[in-house]
Amino acid sequence: MIRINENYTKLTASYLFADIAKRVSAYAAAHPEHKVIRLGIGDVTEPLPPVCVEALHAASDEMAQRASFKGYGPEQGYAFLREAVAEHDYAARGCHIAADEIFISDGAKCDCGNIQEIFATDIRLAIPDPVYPVYIDTNVMAGRTGPNADGRYEGVCYLESTPANGYVPAVPSAPADLVYLCFPNNPTGAVATRAQLAAWVAYAKRHQAVLLFDSAYEAFIRDPAIPHSIYEIEGARDVAIEFRSFSKTAGFTGTRCAYTVVPKTVMAWDRSGKPHPLHALWNRRQTTKFNGVAYPIQKAAAAIYTGAGKEQTRALTDFYLGNARLIREAMGRLGLACVGGDNAPYIWINTGQDSWKFFDLLLERAQVVCTPGAGFGRCGEGHARISAFNSRENVVEALERIARALR
Ligand SMILES: Cc1ncc(COP(=O)(O)O)c(C=O)c1O
Repeated sequence: MIRINENYTKLTASYLFADIAKRVSAYAAAHPEHKVIRLGIGDVTEPLPPVCVEALHAASDEMAQRASFKGYGPEQGYAFLREAVAEHDYAARGCHIAADEIFISDGAKCDCGNIQEIFATDIRLAIPDPVYPVYIDTNVMAGRTGPNADGRYEGVCYLESTPANGYVPAVPSAPADLVYLCFPNNPTGAVATRAQLAAWVAYAKRHQAVLLFDSAYEAFIRDPAIPHSIYEIEGARDVAIEFRSFSKTAGFTGTRCAYTVVPKTVMAWDRSGKPHPLHALWNRRQTTKFNGVAYPIQKAAAAIYTGAGKEQTRALTDFYLGNARLIREAMGRLGLACVGGDNAPYIWINTGQDSWKFFDLLLERAQVVCTPGAGFGRCGEGHARISAFNSRENVVEALERIARALR
């Protein structure tokens, strides 16, 4: 008799965005006369930068000619893209990351989800609350947690982001082996200072732990004092893996391209205490299970590192940050405390009420969709995430409707 992986039965309810979609379609079906504005799911709305489109076209033409046609590419990504990333995202910020420490992939979601495979199943996890659900769910699937009780999985150290700590958790007193961090944060939009990140690097060194640093939103950082990469912190090369994505930087959510940095100096140990470089394990994992990103997509991604590409992606992120500023200002006028939106495309509102009730209220009275904070974890209760990914026109209209609804 074929049996299932019973760890899947521990997963709580269905995926957050599926729940939201269900409520929104039920509302839209009942009220076809209303236009619903979605400030919920974090998907981009603006088209690809022109440099990326030009590169896509040119690379497609190469694929049409026998002389320039490409079949399977390197599983780790083409050198032209790995080198551009090393130069522009790392060397330019004083970080020592070599091109062959960069693994190009089809998404930070897959990489964040897959990375846990290279670690033992009985390690101690430290995971933020609220959290991008992929970090916790993939560990539940792999059997690294006990059952869920009261919204929390047994055996996990939750790193709580609350109004009291400015939504940036301090290092815990208890040791953990694998720590997930995300800055600028999804869902809170909070950013971590150099000193806060340095405390995490010191923690990892102290406990022979590994930090998984998700900086999918680094392109939104405008405060020059905030690090874009964990490798801007001294010693991080020995303890941290970093995930980045072109999804929000350049509108690649539907195009799919991202990368993971695994420095050759990051180690993990076997049962006998022998160290192993994680670079070799991740390389083994990727070459066995992944066959690379399409050549035209990698060419499109590389185009963002040209002069015109940098200007166009900056304009794109500036545009969303303009939306974010309007959202923050509107929440301020309504007397709602919030964080994020200044160095991130998300605004995290302290609603002062049950987060699903707030969601229903915005949907029913303003026909605006937000994301209820409780969907991201226990500490998300009482909060809601508003995303800046939309047209200016929709954001302005949504904010007018919210102001009328909440007045
Ligand atoms: C924190 C975080 N990491 C990773 C991702 C996934 O990025 P990608 O589109 O590259 O899979 C997202 C997307 O919403 C995210 O919010």
